[in-house]
Amino acid sequence: MAFELPKLGYEYSALEPHIDARTMEIHHTKHHQGYTDKLNDAVKGSSLEGKTIEQILQNVKGQSAAVRNNGGGYYNHNLYWKILAPGGASNPGGELSDALKESFGSVEKFRDAFVQAGLTQFGSGWAWLVLQNNKLVVSSTPNQDNPLMDVADVQGKPILGVDVWEHAYYLNYQNKRADYLNAFWSLINWDEVTRRFKG
Ligand SMILES: [Fe+2]
Repeated sequence: MAFELPKLGYEYSALEPHIDARTMEIHHTKHHQGYTDKLNDAVKGSSLEGKTIEQILQNVKGQSAAVRNNGGGYYNHNLYWKILAPGGASNPGGELSDALKESFGSVEKFRDAFVQAGLTQFGSGWAWLVLQNNKLVVSSTPNQDNPLMDVADVQGKPILGVDVWEHAYYLNYQNKRADYLNAFWSLINWDEVTRRFKG
């Protein structure tokens, strides 16, 4: 079965004023749709047909650039839409909060490390919160790579990710990536991040 573009579960305008409706619409209907279509084209008729996206990414070494880039783009944006508000807890709580304190010293220090990872990722890419051997670590990846991939420097399960491609923020923030990252922080759906942490 072909990979499908997921529905968002909220309106394109739901994240305003932090992320504008036009950016959301283009990001979803053009960029994510593009990754989805190109992934399907790359997988069709190959040995990857019928595999889950996780299976493909965990064994992406040796696959084509089309599989790596579009498979990553497909997975990463699925995660991105889910871990954005509205509706969830606005702060990490419970077990996740404890784990963040244990790994980073405090939730604020985690926030600083996460924002810094997004800021310092040169060019297009992502910053991540990764569960690795029962510990939480922050990393960043170029292009559409992610921590699930067997080619990633930091490998593990991504439970939070922020898209720092300019297409994610340029209409509202132009070159001011730091402003976008700070706005993103206030949009995180911590219930969803906790679900991924536990699941
Ligand atoms: Fe994106």
